[in-house]
Amino acid sequence: MLYIGVDLGTSAVKLLLMEGSGEIKKIVSREYDLSFPHPGWSEQKPEDWFTQTMDGLKELLDGADKSQVAGISFGGQMHGLVILDKDDNVIRPAILWNDGRTTEETDYLNNVIGKDKLSEYTANIAFAGFTAPKILWVKDKEPENFARIAKIMLPKDYIAYKLSGVHCTDVSDASGMLLLDVKNRKWSKEMLDICSVKEEQLPKLFESYETVGDILPAIADELGLPHNVKIVAGAGDNAAAAVGTGTVGDGACNISLGTSGTVFISSSKFGVDDNNALHSFDHADGSYHLMGCMLSAASCNKWWEEDIIGTEDFVTEQKAITEDKLGRNHVYFLPYLMGERSPHNDPLARGTFIGMTMDTLRADMTQAVLEGVAFALRDSLEVARSLGIDLKRTKICGGGAKSPLWKKMIANICNIKVDVIESEQGPGMGGAMLAAVACGEYASVQAAADAIVKVVDTVEPDPELVALYEERYQQFKLVYPTVKELFPKIQ
Ligand code: XUL
Repeated sequence: MLYIGVDLGTSAVKLLLMEGSGEIKKIVSREYDLSFPHPGWSEQKPEDWFTQTMDGLKELLDGADKSQVAGISFGGQMHGLVILDKDDNVIRPAILWNDGRTTEETDYLNNVIGKDKLSEYTANIAFAGFTAPKILWVKDKEPENFARIAKIMLPKDYIAYKLSGVHCTDVSDASGMLLLDVKNRKWSKEMLDICSVKEEQLPKLFESYETVGDILPAIADELGLPHNVKIVAGAGDNAAAAVGTGTVGDGACNISLGTSGTVFISSSKFGVDDNNALHSFDHADGSYHLMGCMLSAASCNKWWEEDIIGTEDFVTEQKAITEDKLGRNHVYFLPYLMGERSPHNDPLARGTFIGMTMDTLRADMTQAVLEGVAFALRDSLEVARSLGIDLKRTKICGGGAKSPLWKKMIANICNIKVDVIESEQGPGMGGAMLAAVACGEYASVQAAADAIVKVVDTVEPDPELVALYEERYQQFKLVYPTVKELFPKIQ
């Protein structure tokens, strides 16, 4: 049978067609606009997601034996607020995961309601990108829109709703709303009250590998698919990527180097760290995970290359960063182009270059950008290590994982073995695997991962380079606390 994974990302939707054996038959993608209506705001139109998904599905299925398609599932950008009125019209553009407008609402939740209570109800504290502060923002700043809300959902759930007619979500993605009792995998009544939300406005909760319903007949006809294709709940993109890279079971790690950068640690047991520095969320395999998320990762490199130095040839640009330069760069870059989530929780933080001299070259600046992202990923890894989690190896996925240089920097800066798998298509692959589990092709998510995911290479840290980078990391760590006070003053 065939399974489709829909990776609803921030720059594009990527669609992947997978054989039951795990073989990827085809990948297509469709881009859509991302708008920044004010500095630090980030919005997209849910209607664009759906139009582009349908268009991409048609190309994906062109030439395929459509009668063999059994299930469709998702990995979706997390935390985005999608609101529909009683007639299913989208009320306003979705407010995305990397939107920093909710400073006031986040402060209210963390300081007036209190971090202890939030952590007790949801296992997490408030971050500007989470969904609950956005609901409070709409309530306060757009009361006429708030009054019209009939359905609240997350980005991928809008696509699932359009395909199946079922108002659904899954527990991994719902974890990032700050409305879910993560430990018990159910909505938190206390949080619903705090946000003035009624349970009937929220989607029905599923495990990621559960079927929410059959495809709507009209959609099946438009795509030429059988009427019994299953629409499967799917997961937040990070949990889906973890499935796609085989990051399931206890203590496995995956680094995603996409628009955002995440460090994802799977865990068989529920756990929260005392400072809530890492998110404590449900996993798509029925268990839990911890996660640190940086808001701009591969997007920093894209910004630097395309918007600032004006090239799309990232490979040639990185060739200038020769072996002898690694661990010896005096230029540092804080990758906080959209503020930062983990571990600083500072929506007002901004990108910063520091340390240039008259002999600084373009390649040193490019190197600083790549290293700055790797140092910031290490910040999250250090929090996990401080909890006693022994992290010796990680998988890696996302567009940035295509760069051998970046993988080498990560291995040496984080002193971790980086296992490279066959394809860096984390969320799309994970989505297709979740669909295969729901359709009975595999007995569990773990069984699917064991059968499908293959490590093809490992980037080993080199002790000499690790020592050089250790010094650099200690210096990098001094920069943010020193410039932090400036950010609110220079907005
Ligand atoms: C995770 C997060 C991002 C988005 C990116 O908490 O906000 O990784 O899911 O799509």
